[in-house]
Amino acid sequence: MNIKIIKTKDGSQSLYLPDLNETYHSVFGAITESEHVYIEAGYKSLTKQKINILEIGFGTGLNVFLTCLAAKNNDKKIYYETLEKHPLPQDIILKLNNFEKEIHQILFERIHQAPWQKAVNITPQITLHKNQTDLLYYKTNKLFDLIYFDAFAPDKQPELWTAEIFEKMYRFLDTDGILVTYSAKGQVRRNMLAAGFKVVRLPGPPGKREMLRAVKKT
Ligand SMILES: C[S@@+](CC[C@H](N)C(=O)[O-])C[C@H]1O[C@@H](n2cnc3c(N)ncnc32)[C@H](O)[C@@H]1O
Repeated sequence: MNIKIIKTKDGSQSLYLPDLNETYHSVFGAITESEHVYIEAGYKSLTKQKINILEIGFGTGLNVFLTCLAAKNNDKKIYYETLEKHPLPQDIILKLNNFEKEIHQILFERIHQAPWQKAVNITPQITLHKNQTDLLYYKTNKLFDLIYFDAFAPDKQPELWTAEIFEKMYRFLDTDGILVTYSAKGQVRRNMLAAGFKVVRLPGPPGKREMLRAVKKT
């Protein structure tokens, strides 16, 4: 795997895949983007005490990490399942250093040491299930309250942004469940609408005018 560590504009690190000409996060700020799209527009809009989260694309584990921090000071219980087709090599993970506090470094390592294909408690609030699988073939009987849709961009992976995939996401969500993503592409929005979602455009993180939040209403 040809991977380069990059520094994004807010000072946080991300990864760049030269072969795909794609980054794992926005070059305008990896942590800023994840906080804005997934934590602020996603996680913080949920009021339930028990939450099931599904993530498409575990990648560097940044969204898991930020969700753990956001959940730290409340008594919510979270089941967090994250799908990843190509887990990153350990040597790359070990080189990522986005954390000033030692306790954050320890949490990040715990997330990465968690086994694949098994649900384990990584904090008192969060049960993490890292699932090495391809979204195209993924099946589940669980119902989720929130989906972090964080695949590579639609022009790099068009097969993951189709109406069929969003129909699948719709089925995986509980009533009033929401899906958030950094992409605001017109075709993505139309595919979500075709799948039955109510879709709103929200202001995007730095460097992006908009992002999308799709809600399952029955
Ligand atoms: C934009 S990155 C995700 C960033 C990640 N959420 C983070 O916090 O670092 C997209 C991820 O989706 C994964 N991916 C690509 N195709 C996939 C597929 N068909 N099924 C599951 N994961 C896939 C990639 O390997 C990559 O790790």
